[in-house]
Parts: sequence; structure tokens; C-alpha cells
Amino acid sequence: MLNVAVVGCGGMSGGYRRAFEQLGSRVRVVAAVDVVQDRAKAAAEELGAEPATDYRTVLDGVDAVMLILPHHLHHPIAMECLAAGKHVLLEKPLAISEAECLDLIQASEKARRVLMIAYCMRFHPLVVRLKELIDNKTYGDVFQLSIWTEQHTRYPRDHWASKAATLGGGQLFSHGCHYIDLLLWFLGRPVEGTHMGTNYCTPWMEKEGTSNVAMKFESGALGYHFGTWGAKGTRLGYSFHAHCAEGMIEAHASIGKLFAHVGDKEELLEECELGKHVGNEIVHFIDCIETGRPPLTDARSSLQGLRAIWRLYDAEQKGVVADLRGLGLDES
Ligand SMILES: NC(=O)c1ccc[n+]([C@@H]2O[C@H](COP(=O)([O-])OP(=O)(O)OC[C@H]3O[C@@H](n4cnc5c(N)ncnc54)[C@H](O)[C@@H]3O)[C@@H](O)[C@H]2O)c1
Repeated sequence: MLNVAVVGCGGMSGGYRRAFEQLGSRVRVVAAVDVVQDRAKAAAEELGAEPATDYRTVLDGVDAVMLILPHHLHHPIAMECLAAGKHVLLEKPLAISEAECLDLIQASEKARRVLMIAYCMRFHPLVVRLKELIDNKTYGDVFQLSIWTEQHTRYPRDHWASKAATLGGGQLFSHGCHYIDLLLWFLGRPVEGTHMGTNYCTPWMEKEGTSNVAMKFESGALGYHFGTWGAKGTRLGYSFHAHCAEGMIEAHASIGKLFAHVGDKEELLEECELGKHVGNEIVHFIDCIETGRPPLTDARSSLQGLRAIWRLYDAEQKGVVADLRGLGLDES
């Protein structure tokens, strides 16, 4: 059994707390840590763990940490945990600069510890099935993958997630990183792309609260992502539409259903429970620790998605189309 600590007991930690049930006796949560003592206490009570306000005091007693922290703290705290020989499941995005990301990759490789990025959508049952159907060309080659994420996420003005310096960017960097990661996973190497973002009607965001990305891939396929934190209503919610040569596959995560549309026929292919399915992600993390296999969402692949985002932001500022070739660490 592995001993773990949850560090950061804010909003997202709720998803982790519910997910531990799926792990059964493989994991014991021994500490719940938050600088806000009441949050640490509430989480510890729910998890049957000890509360703490300083993560350094719990490291000796754990094999792994789950870091669910503001983005500007990902790098310094993950570095310290890796240096202490702990496996790290780090919430997305990996870190807020290229230099920090490279530092973390190097540190995890040197320490020979798992560093997994918590891109939970890669473990969502509908996304996993969609990936299989696209890879197997069940409906032929994919030529357009569109992803919508429409939510209302409003932070106080002084919250770390409102400010570009602590968030690392705007809605695209913070939330869209899941979907840029998925576009690369589904469609391969991108060639070029554009981003347009605005904080119109989401004035609590210093950078964009609404984001539109279009990308072209080596195969000729196009990828699109529209994400907003300003939605006061929605029909599409969290939706994926994969247009393939012989039909369209629709994953509607907000209702937990996957459909195929061919001509005017609609077929229900899969149903799943609603939610983020964080449990699947944690199971994968534990599997990787136990087997020594690299995680599906490792730090290297995660950096490729962030590089795409940084190039898209940069090109948006300059008013040009972003060159997205050569994102990989092994490419020129
Ligand atoms: N995968 C998803 O769908 C998803 C959704 C929301 C958030 N997230 C990610 O989860 C992470 C946290 O986001 P959140 O929404 O929970 O933020 P939050 O602000 O609600 O929670 C962060 C918590 O960290 C605590 N904290 C700050 N500094 C600390 C320190 N030094 N030691 C211990 N605790 C400290 C804060 O007190 C707070 O309780 C971010 O990386 C975010 O991107 C992921």
C-alpha cells in the first residue's frame, strides 16, 4: 500500500477526495495539507488523514504527493517533492514557463520518480472511446475535431486564478490546456494555428476569459477549441464533434453519452457517469509507480501542448499565424 499526501485542499481537491474510493486498499491518504487550516482539517476528516499546514512536515511519511495548487506554486513545490524522492501527480498545467517545465522534467528524470500531469480528460471514458474510434478509423479519417467547453467560472478579482502572473495566462492556458493536449493526442503534429481571446463580459479575468483556437495538422485535419468561463447558459456544455470521412462522432460529456451520426441516423455508442473521472487518472498514477511505466500524461508531452499555447499567445499579440511545427523536445 502506498502512502500519499494531498497538498492543496481547495475547489479541485473535492474531485480527488471522491476518487480515492476507487483505489480501495492500494492507497492510504495519510495527510491533507493546506495553508488554510480549516480546509486541511475538513479534507483530513473526510479522508481519515492527518491535517497539516506545511507540506514539508509530511514528506518523510509518504511515497507520493498529489499537488492541487495555484499554478505559480506548481514548480517550486513539485521540485521540492521530487528532490525529497516523492512521486508527484501534479495538477495541470505543468508550470507557468518553459524554463520551469524543463527544470521539472530534468528533476523527475534525475530522481527517477513518476511525474504525471493531471490531464483528467485523457482518462474520461467517452474521450478514451472517441480516441479508439478515431485511431481505428471506424468512420474513416478524421478531418475536423471541434471541442466546446462552456462554463461559468467567476473568481474574486484578487484570486490567484484571475491574475495572469499566478494563473500563467488566461482561460486558454488554465483550462484550454486540457483541450490543446487532446487535440495533439488525437490529431498528431500541428503545423499552424491562431488564437483569439477576450475578457469582454468576463471582467474578473486579467487575460482572456473566452478563447477560440483553430489549428491545422500535418495530416491536413483541423482542430478547433472554443472555451469560455462566461457562459450563463449552454446547450453544448462539454462537447466533442469528430467529423470523419464516413460519419461524425459526438461525445457529449455533459450528458455522458457518445453518439455516431451517419446521414440522418444517430446511434448511441456509449454511456458513462457524469463528472471528471479523476479516479481513472489516479489509478493510472498508482499503476505507473508500481510498474515503472511512464505515465500517458507525462511532463514531456504536456510541455508540447504548453509550447503550442505560448506560440499561439505570441502570434496573437503580433497579429500573425503561429508556426506550430517542431513542438517536441526531440524535434529541431
Ligand atoms: N482538472 C480539472 O478539471 C481542474 C479543475 C479545477 C482546477 N484544476 C487545477 O487544480 C489546481 C488547483 O485549483 P483549485 O481550483 O483547486 O484552486 P483553489 O484556489 O480552490 O485551491 C488551491 C488550494 O491550495 C491552497 N494552497 C495555496 N498555497 C499552498 C501551499 N503552499 N501549501 C498548501 N496549500 C496551499 C489554497 O489555500 C487553496 O485551498 C490548479 O492547478 C487548477 O488548474 C483542475
